[in-house]
Amino acid sequence: MSQNTNYSSVTPTQATKLEGDDKRNYIRNLFDDIATRYDFLRTLVFLGHTSLWYRQALRDLQLQPGEKILDVGCGTGESTRCLNRFYPGIQIEGMDLSPGMLSVARSMDADSNYFEGDVCSIPRPDCTYDVVVTAFTFRNFPNREVSLAQMLRVLRPGGRLLILDHFYPEKPVLWRNIYTIWMSKIVPQIVRPFIADTTPYRYLAQSIINQLKMPDFIQLIESSGAKVTNTNTYTGGAAGRLIAVR
Ligand SMILES: C[S@@+](CC[C@H](N)C(=O)[O-])C[C@H]1O[C@@H](n2cnc3c(N)ncnc32)[C@H](O)[C@@H]1O
Repeated sequence: MSQNTNYSSVTPTQATKLEGDDKRNYIRNLFDDIATRYDFLRTLVFLGHTSLWYRQALRDLQLQPGEKILDVGCGTGESTRCLNRFYPGIQIEGMDLSPGMLSVARSMDADSNYFEGDVCSIPRPDCTYDVVVTAFTFRNFPNREVSLAQMLRVLRPGGRLLILDHFYPEKPVLWRNIYTIWMSKIVPQIVRPFIADTTPYRYLAQSIINQLKMPDFIQLIESSGAKVTNTNTYTGGAAGRLIAVR
């Protein structure tokens, strides 16, 4: 797949299995395409729950003024702005692969430091940050192991990595079935009036269905050399957080 290939040339199910440059190009094109409608559509798709998930996942981090934070895959900057609001005085940078998403972030928040970069080769020296946060991104990364190794590399020893993401609820089965129908059948209809191509939201549903289960996520992080200290799930398992210490 070339950098300019239309992402619709791959089915959402195939897209979740892409790796390396193919995944990177697919994801960059997808987010560039929806950047200006991303925040509005996300509120619609998750019925405003993302604000709640940010509060639950980020409020107890107890970041101190002067601490250096990297928000990996900051997108339009909602996660970055939340952290800035919760913890005045932190030094936060937001990095993203998609120029379109970064352009929206910069238009909303001229004071924050946003830069373009790929999680698989973060353009920062070793041990730069006290905390690395990545919210609703991990399913989209080109390579899980390399992403984790890079996020841990830029953390100082003892620094914390926080991953917040969508998960596929397991139990009760009724809730899992309702969530599946909502994401796979209803969401594409709801977003249709606002975007010409609903592929990004069909990909979103498929990427959630294929998300790692929490125990596998823990194992993956620990095999990268970090110690998982906290895990939490929200809204019946539709979102989850892991904190690991380098
Ligand atoms: C669902 S958005 C989440 C944005 C933001 N963290 C938030 O909570 O609103 C996922 C973001 O991850 C970014 N992303 C995906 N793959 C990436 C990569 N390899 N390196 C850096 N950012 C990436 C996308 O461009 C997109 O902006």
